[in-house]
Amino acid sequence: MVVLDAGEKLKSIRDVLMRIVSVVGARPQFVKLAAMHLALSKRAYHSIIHTGQHYDPMLSDIFFSNLDIPHPDVNLSVGSGSHASQTASIITALEPELERLDPTWLVVYGDTNSTIAASLVGAKMGLKVAHLEAGLRSFNRAMPEEVNRVLTDHASDLCLAPSATAMDNLGREGLLDRSVMVGDVMVDVLYNTLNKLEISLNKSERLEGRYLVATIHRQENTEEEHTLRAVFATLDTMPLPVRLFTHPRLRNRIGRFSINTREYPNVEFLDPAAYPALIREVANAAGVLTDSGGLQKEAFLLRTPCVTLRAETEWPETIQLGWNRLAEPKAEGLADFLLGNQERNHDTNPYGNGTAAHLAVEAILAAT
Ligand code: UD1
Repeated sequence: MVVLDAGEKLKSIRDVLMRIVSVVGARPQFVKLAAMHLALSKRAYHSIIHTGQHYDPMLSDIFFSNLDIPHPDVNLSVGSGSHASQTASIITALEPELERLDPTWLVVYGDTNSTIAASLVGAKMGLKVAHLEAGLRSFNRAMPEEVNRVLTDHASDLCLAPSATAMDNLGREGLLDRSVMVGDVMVDVLYNTLNKLEISLNKSERLEGRYLVATIHRQENTEEEHTLRAVFATLDTMPLPVRLFTHPRLRNRIGRFSINTREYPNVEFLDPAAYPALIREVANAAGVLTDSGGLQKEAFLLRTPCVTLRAETEWPETIQLGWNRLAEPKAEGLADFLLGNQERNHDTNPYGNGTAAHLAVEAILAAT
């Protein structure tokens, strides 16, 4: 009988199962990876490459530990930089790692610089590329994320769409024959987290805290001092205290513009929150103000009204169903929208029922 040591056993498992590599780098991708790792590791040999785009422990490590994701197999440690240099560093560092891991499929997530960089490397190397969260569009090409997601969809062999709207967008760009609607994996993660935290999905079974939650990090709200001050002024006039969880980019801009946060006494400037902690905050909040793509949808799923401080959204259903409103920082009536008696649809869920990761893995295996 031949006895294999642990390393040889791992190698033989690796050789029998299909090899799939996920590339992630930024906070929202770690959330999506949590659902996908659980589903992928049941059906394939799954390796994780972290580009290092996000490196602060509160934006990275804590997501891996809180969401039960194993340590990445590789960390490219690219760090911050201009869009072009960050993207280029990921491309250069990723290629040899993919040559070594030799996967059949490369899975890329969302719309960050890590996504576009990885999809380009995969396509150039002749790997099969699956894009999770494909088909989202803001139709605003000035957003770096919009460029990333359009190009990634077109470089991919399989577009895994989270909603019917995303499928329509893919259809309009001639990508329907490589697209599958699987639902949104962020629903899977949210439901698992609510179970663990013993928080009800049903709003009427939760406490309603007398506070609002806010997050701001997007380039269009943080690059100009007057825009950022307008955002803070709006938060400061809200009739309930605002808990603002500050992304490092926001901290950085507060310092660069020498903004004295004590000028905004209604706003509590807090460190970034870990995923379960933020979900707990949003579940019990009276409302949310954000420019995050993920948070506006989590607020919707938790039926907490949300104002999105942007000109457009990739999740139009949240608006059509009455839970989300787009607004400029200085817009009128924001508190009324959050706290007033608006008509809102309580029943419809356009983003799936928490099985999106399973359906995504089935779609990948079927396309192999
Ligand atoms: C990135 C994504 C965005 C996503 C967001 C979630 C792109 C183009 N954007 O934006 O779609 O919604 O992540 O957080 O990929 N920084 C730190 N520590 C870190 C990471 C960043 O201090 O761990 C600071 C640096 O000053 C850096 C700036 O934040 O220059 C921007 O970081 P970057 O990852 O390029 O983009 P995000 O704004 O985080």
